[in-house]
Amino acid sequence: MAQASIGIIGGSGLYKMDALKDVEEVRVETPFGSPSDALILGTLDSTRVAFLARHGRNHTLLPSELPFRANIYGMKQLGVKYLISASAVGSLKEEAKPLDMVVPDQFIDRTKNRISTFFGEGIVAHIAFGNPICKNLAIVLADAIASLNLPEVTLHCGGTYVCMEGPAFSTKAESNLYRSWGATIIGMTNLPEAKLAREAEIAYATLALVTDYDCWHPDHDSVTVELVIGNLLRNAANAQKVIQETVRRLSENPPPSEAHSALQYAILTQLDKVP
Ligand code: ADE
Repeated sequence: MAQASIGIIGGSGLYKMDALKDVEEVRVETPFGSPSDALILGTLDSTRVAFLARHGRNHTLLPSELPFRANIYGMKQLGVKYLISASAVGSLKEEAKPLDMVVPDQFIDRTKNRISTFFGEGIVAHIAFGNPICKNLAIVLADAIASLNLPEVTLHCGGTYVCMEGPAFSTKAESNLYRSWGATIIGMTNLPEAKLAREAEIAYATLALVTDYDCWHPDHDSVTVELVIGNLLRNAANAQKVIQETVRRLSENPPPSEAHSALQYAILTQLDKVP
């Protein structure tokens, strides 16, 4: 099967990457069913990457319907070692304005209905997840953003991403609760991906594209799909430039990642005794 060591998952509004050359669509099958769409293998500069539209290219999958395990398993099958997740998020802090970019370093799980592990059914393992984002990959991503000096875009390094179930956006009480917890941004997809990527020993980092102030801000409209997509489209070209620069830096200098040995001390089951 074709191979790529860098994977990109594109969220709402980022359904394809125009800069990809020599594109090949790969339909993988996994023990967890099919991924959200075909994996698109293509060349960015001279590096082969694998791109996946998280919600499908025509946006047909709700966050709760995403085949998270198949998506990560599919990336692993292609040999992906570094995964960049580009995602629209709402801002929970005044200073993170629409069009800004955040590279978070923590998550809070408010999902209710997601399968976020490859383990179970006789194999017991517990990965360390105190630092859910690969620090070294996040540094490469943040340095790439900073190097581009994008007009209108402020970079925020670090911060906590609240992952909610959806599909309805939050109530004001919820939004203010998350603010009182000190969280920075809110979205619906990244935590299951980060957990599964860690179990698959893939380094994972989030490029969070701020589209709105959720519903807490007295001086800004509450989040709507129109607002999210409008601001994402304004930022889509910037997001693609950031991904391209991150891929260039990663392929020149692939950093070590603790994720690459995440299973070393995680498995409790005596695999040599399991038939
Ligand atoms: N994605 C973009 N904006 C969001 C918000 N306010 N809440 C949850 N997911 C989002």
